[in-house]
Amino acid sequence: MSLTSILTNLSHEEIFSVGRWAFGAGALAYSTKFLFKDEDSYDAPPVVPGYPVIGNTLQFMSDPQKLMGQSLDKACYCVDYGDVFTLNIGGRPVTMVGLSCVDDLVKTKDNVLSFNEAADDFFQIKAIFGSELSDDYLHSRLARASMSKSLNEFAERSIHVIEAALDERLGDLEVGEEKSIDDIMEFMQRVIAKSSAAIFVGEASPACNDVDFLDTVENFIGECIKAILFGRVFPKWTIPSVINSATSIPKHLEVARKTLFPIIAERRQMAAELGDAFVKPNDFIQWAIDDEKNGEPLSSELIVQGLMALVFVSVATTAINLTHMLYDVAGRQQHISELLSEQEAVLAQHDGKLTKQALDKMKMLDSFFRESLRVNLDSAHTFRKTLEPWTLSNGMVVPKGHTVYFLSDTAHLNANVVGEAPESFNPWRTLNTNKPSTRVGTDNIAFGFGRHACPGRFIASMEIEIAMSVLLRKFEFRTISGTRPANRPVLGTNLTPAEPIIFKRRV
Ligand code: HEM
Repeated sequence: MSLTSILTNLSHEEIFSVGRWAFGAGALAYSTKFLFKDEDSYDAPPVVPGYPVIGNTLQFMSDPQKLMGQSLDKACYCVDYGDVFTLNIGGRPVTMVGLSCVDDLVKTKDNVLSFNEAADDFFQIKAIFGSELSDDYLHSRLARASMSKSLNEFAERSIHVIEAALDERLGDLEVGEEKSIDDIMEFMQRVIAKSSAAIFVGEASPACNDVDFLDTVENFIGECIKAILFGRVFPKWTIPSVINSATSIPKHLEVARKTLFPIIAERRQMAAELGDAFVKPNDFIQWAIDDEKNGEPLSSELIVQGLMALVFVSVATTAINLTHMLYDVAGRQQHISELLSEQEAVLAQHDGKLTKQALDKMKMLDSFFRESLRVNLDSAHTFRKTLEPWTLSNGMVVPKGHTVYFLSDTAHLNANVVGEAPESFNPWRTLNTNKPSTRVGTDNIAFGFGRHACPGRFIASMEIEIAMSVLLRKFEFRTISGTRPANRPVLGTNLTPAEPIIFKRRV
């Protein structure tokens, strides 16, 4: 998950109004506590000079790439500070580490470099969901254990739902007729919300046709973002009441409870009545019902929280990357005929039917998606928190309490890592290389790395490629400018473009 997924859901007005508060609070935090006080005693990473009190916050918010550019040359090699340095962002010490330390990042255990603590700190998991979920990380545990085993079944559900969701907005077009969609991100978020609901709760479940529940799946993240930004402003102990009074998180959680409690109760009852004859659905709800804690079944409340946490980490991230991919194709018309030829050739081998097996053969589409992930990644990606001083293999020690980000440009824009011309978009960069989009490594860190690498990446890649396959075959689509519009840098992250896309029915 990246900051992009969070910020994309806020309007600019919302971002800047909360951002102003965050900014002020960061300054206050800095003035009451000297942030880098214990770094003298270590061989600590160099601290990049910033403005008095606010440090590097302003630069990072307004143009993160420029800030990184002070430390990285055009080819993204660190020139002034090396690829390990510390910034003051929002009054907090943030250490950026690059390619030279990627092995340290991957190998260091969670008791020193914690993903959960960083996520808790940043995403306000405890304040949003309560400590039971944040102690257990049910959503991660179950996703890791079961998600990738059921891909064929999930693909079937997802293909059906995504086709229908795309038709909702574009299905009324006659062959040759055009329609401009202004807010592509909002459109894609709706499509992915529906597919995610079908995967997590089962396509046949009443939840998948419940307008309020689908609205919650689609919009929950937007409210969580407010909580995250409030978490940068107000003291920790006030966050639960701020969430209650200033966000719709309680309302969304209530909708989820109202929709899912009866489903959980019914499944438990059927299992009790039918015993082994009960044919268990394959979805998150059932995995959680079958799970246990200290020998006891999980409470319905915890199951709902786990599901909403999964919604939180998955829907916006997938919708954002689908939106990027759509702009990457729409803005580069020269590649469409090759993508389309592949679609036709593969589907001809599958009786014209899109299936998981057919998707697996669409190597050009997958190579294109992997390249889209590479070029659209934020410069600072994936985080950890140091629970104790963290010694790097180069001898530097990152103090306890620092948030650590990986400098993705040191890998993704590095010719030694990704091959020649890293600054250009080459959709066939990994074609015939046996490197699918889901294979993580230094040349593909969009899904993170090490033991926390995204367990939902197979689903994400599948959903994105299903949507692209359907759109490519049914529609011609292009941007108004005729080029790939630039991403919008806001608050240290790259938001998807805002340009409309014009769809014209092909068949
Ligand atoms: C294109 C879409 C997605 C992207 C780019 C993405 C990216 C990421 C990243 C970067 C992480 C952190 C990894 C690290 O820091 O090493 C992560 C974690 C996670 N992702 Fe995704 N993700 C996506 C979609 C999904 C989907 C669809 C699901 C579930 C169906 C999912 C479930 C999770 C979970 C549960 C974690 C936490 C893992 C843990 O606690 O160890 N993600 N994701």
